[in-house]
Amino acid sequence: MQATILVTGGTGFIGSHTAAVLQQAGYRVLILDNLCNSAAGVLDAIAAITGIRPDFVQGDVRDAPLLDSVFASHPIAAVLHFAGLKAVGESTTMPLAYYDNNVHGSVQLLQAMQRAGVRTLVFSSSATVYGDPQKLPLTEDHPRSATNPYGHTKLVVEDILENLYNSQPDWRIARLRYFNPVGAHPSGLMGEAPQGTPNNLMPFVAQVAVGQRDSVKVFGNDYDTPDGTGVRDYIHVMDLAEGHAHALKYCLNAAQDLLTVNLGTGVGYSVLDMIHAFEQASGKAVAYDIVGRRPGDIAACWADTELAFQKLGWRAQKSIQDMCDDAWRWEMHRAAL
Ligand code: NAD
Ligand code: WQD
Repeated sequence: MQATILVTGGTGFIGSHTAAVLQQAGYRVLILDNLCNSAAGVLDAIAAITGIRPDFVQGDVRDAPLLDSVFASHPIAAVLHFAGLKAVGESTTMPLAYYDNNVHGSVQLLQAMQRAGVRTLVFSSSATVYGDPQKLPLTEDHPRSATNPYGHTKLVVEDILENLYNSQPDWRIARLRYFNPVGAHPSGLMGEAPQGTPNNLMPFVAQVAVGQRDSVKVFGNDYDTPDGTGVRDYIHVMDLAEGHAHALKYCLNAAQDLLTVNLGTGVGYSVLDMIHAFEQASGKAVAYDIVGRRPGDIAACWADTELAFQKLGWRAQKSIQDMCDDAWRWEMHRAAL
């Protein structure tokens, strides 16, 4: 039987693009997702893009008997663990749901992997673990801190993985710290589909361009940045997906390891840069209003990308124009659905 990669959260934004890339690289993919923030229709998009429909189990990573049956019935070689909740604001109002999903869910998954003898894991961490940067670019040895429950769940799971590796060094684990994932599959068939009002900048900008919302609120123009608006390291989701394929290969080829790397581009763009790039991609004006700072926001953040290149031989390739062009193609496709 062909070795299978279990992708938890694989119908979500980053997981779905990664599943498509893995299938195109020849892996067999099994997705486990409870569909709390995604839809099963994504499987059709992956099938249309790759010619293969991934195996799918609708279920929860906190369901231990289900996990045992999944591991017993498939030859799983490694797990990519995307499943979790990710809205910073919501995590402050529902902290227990975040600890339950993200921390308890990860522990359940790791215990099931132990029982099944599967010890190869790629985990979705976040640049949020760096807190307010003391110096830029952010290197992986920058001190970690959390300013909200979501960020704290990522810190805790990073630590759990380190404790686990120290206790049993035959694990092969990659902790990938994503910066700001944006964009969509270049086919326009798959992309980010936030429910309700988007929390993140780029889905909001796309909805203004398509006429679904009136204007973008720009959270502050008095930061110590070139135009005063916040600066972030936006990374195309396809670059991120390729980064996972490299990390998976690295882990599968390692005897043992605990790798921690940034997945970013190394370049920061401001809120206004992104709005203007989206206007160019869409040919639509994107109205915006400058409002006060959003509590908890930092001025600027971008990755040092050398370790990822050194360890994985991977660098992001796509430009902000690619990010906006592909996001716009997806927005048009969505509007026509
Ligand atoms: P997403 O919400 O689109 O995908 C997460 C998927 O996990 C969804 O399909 C959801 O239905 C599923 N899920 C949630 N809880 C589950 C559970 N208990 N059992 C099974 N499935 C469950 O989010 P995304 O943007 O694709 O993020 C994927 C991962 O990357 C998350 O762990 C997130 O914290 C992390 N991350 C995301 C970003 C970002 O800005 N998008 C940045 C850094 C890290
Ligand atoms: C980007 C910039 C805002 C919305 C978040 C999480 C982080 C990670 C990625 C998961 C900032 C500005 C935004 C808007 C705006 N997720 N903005 N108007 O905050 O960098 O990171 O997503 O791990 O943990 O915190 O991303 O897209 O929300 O904001 O002006 O309507 O856009 O102030 O400068 P952020 P974002």
